Amino acid sequence: MLTDLLEEGSLPHRFRALWDEIAPIGRDGRSGGYLRYALTEPELRLREWFHEQADRRGMPVTDDGNGNLFARWGDPEAGDAVLTGSHFDSVPHGGAYDGPLGIVSAFLAVDELRAAGVTPARPVVIGAFVEEEGARFGVPCLGSRLLTGEIAVDRAAGLRDADGVSFAEALGAGPAGARPELLGRFAAFVELHVEQGRAMVDADAPIGVASAIWPHGRWRFEFTGEGNHAGTTRMADRRDPMLTYAFTVLAANKEARLRGAHATVGRVAVEPNATNAIPSKVTGWLDARAAEPETLTGLVDAVRVKAAERARRDGTGVALTEESATPLVAFDGGLAGRLASLLDAPVLPTGAGHDAGVLAAHLPTAMLFVRNPTGVSHSPAESADDVDCAAGVTALARVLEELTCR
Ligand code: GLV
Ligand code: MN
Ligand code: MN
Ligand code: MN
Repeated sequence: MLTDLLEEGSLPHRFRALWDEIAPIGRDGRSGGYLRYALTEPELRLREWFHEQADRRGMPVTDDGNGNLFARWGDPEAGDAVLTGSHFDSVPHGGAYDGPLGIVSAFLAVDELRAAGVTPARPVVIGAFVEEEGARFGVPCLGSRLLTGEIAVDRAAGLRDADGVSFAEALGAGPAGARPELLGRFAAFVELHVEQGRAMVDADAPIGVASAIWPHGRWRFEFTGEGNHAGTTRMADRRDPMLTYAFTVLAANKEARLRGAHATVGRVAVEPNATNAIPSKVTGWLDARAAEPETLTGLVDAVRVKAAERARRDGTGVALTEESATPLVAFDGGLAGRLASLLDAPVLPTGAGHDAGVLAAHLPTAMLFVRNPTGVSHSPAESADDVDCAAGVTALARVLEELTCR
């Protein structure tokens, strides 16, 4: 490993030391992936760690009443702050870097600036957003949507996890909803994130700057039929929702390929879920994304029509519900260009959603990506080299200096 050849005390080593503090938290021994669902024990430990890191650096922490944490470095009277950070929560058996990299890098970037004797003219705030993945309560970027008022408080409060616990119950109080007075004190947001595809490996670049986030969303298909005996029900007499479901998955894949879009059915629930019973109900969640909004709408419409046609043939029912939708995000082009030339980094779009995508509608926002050598994400195989992570810290420190001192 290149890292082993670097001196003790080098930035890659300091990155590794801090990273190792959180690496075991929420890791599943079997898959090697992470189970860090929002406001569950592992994520609460990470939030505790956030407080400790802030304390260690003399940074006061505030909670916005929505579950988002903010640690401040610098005089709040000095001006509107530059916000950086990301999220701690993971998808089921997710990778180590998606989210936490942006928070760990932010603390190290503050250390770098302090060690260099930089006194920012405006504060730097490190944020940890709650429920970015939507893995527990179903709506991604829930914390940033609440802070910005992009989701109604009642709807967010009533979202329930698989055990029936509501978001409001998990949070303990609130949620508070939109906090314009808090949001208004941020001059800009910069989220550093591991790259989740192969674009930067292909570009041979350790650091990239985001240009856009594809429009995307989640749709729930509920296919209903007649539960019955697998051995005694004649094939001609069946109303099997599994068939309609299976056809719909294939149709989504085909329609996405035809359009250069992305469609995934990564979650399914079968009732009663017995080997020897024809299901009475199958629920499948479609995740669809495309570069242009019209392509995405066309894709979802086509899948809806095909599912309905097939349901008629199968004698089943189908209902479609939109669970979340995120419009196309075009990041501030001037800011992206400025950071790309500062860092000599490529500018690229992404199909992954981020809190930065929500905040971009409310304040100048940019994203930095750190190369992912496998290109794999939302999987235990996600990775990043310590040397590239250190380059990410250096890049973030330069960006924070640029945005706070000029
Ligand atoms: C979140 O990571 C998403 O893009 O689904
Ligand atoms: Mn993710
Ligand atoms: Mn993420
Ligand atoms: Mn994400």
